[in-house]
Amino acid sequence: MRIDIISVVPKLMESFFDHSIIKRAREKDLLQIELHNLRDYTSYRHSQVDDYQFGGGAGLVLMAEPLANAIEALQKDRNYDEIIFLTPDGKPFDQGEANQLSLKNNLLMICGHYKGIDQRIRDLFVTKEISIGDYVLSGGELAAAVVSDAIGRLIPGVLNDESSALTDSFQDDLLAPPVYTRPENFRGQHVPEVLIGGNHALIEKWRSEC
Ligand code: ADE
Repeated sequence: MRIDIISVVPKLMESFFDHSIIKRAREKDLLQIELHNLRDYTSYRHSQVDDYQFGGGAGLVLMAEPLANAIEALQKDRNYDEIIFLTPDGKPFDQGEANQLSLKNNLLMICGHYKGIDQRIRDLFVTKEISIGDYVLSGGELAAAVVSDAIGRLIPGVLNDESSALTDSFQDDLLAPPVYTRPENFRGQHVPEVLIGGNHALIEKWRSEC
């Protein structure tokens, strides 16, 4: 899978994608993530990418032209299954959406900043609008990182123990049972007996009842 992300502050996401499971997925060539700086696609002077909104009101808006240039330049190289705009008024992101998106080959994500993006980009190019929660972030970058992480870990081969993605919290609309590691006794708090007894049927029963 390949995920292209357009942003005015791509560096915000660099470190995130360079660590842990997503890093491993990229190293194994199971996931390719490419960050694109919107300023590289503007033809306005001083690399301008935003402007005041028509009708007045506080906050700058990302202009249509640089965004359209960026999207169309990327579309020359591949067909995107979805062009996703991260926005607080989008559809709430959940595990079902992550599962669906993990089956795609090419995703393009657009991160808004400031007051948002020119509506015509949403009307002309965007195929899906996603929110990661009912709060307003300074930009879509953290949301793009969250969505990419949730998708990336579902790609077969990314997790060492493949079954662990399937037993995640929320995967079956169930909360995950509590987990313990060594030591068995921590400050007088003991690991539940059933987990050290070795009876897997009992362990499964205990876990499903938690
Ligand atoms: N951009 C700003 N806030 C956001 C949110 N809650 N979800 C997705 N993108 C956003």
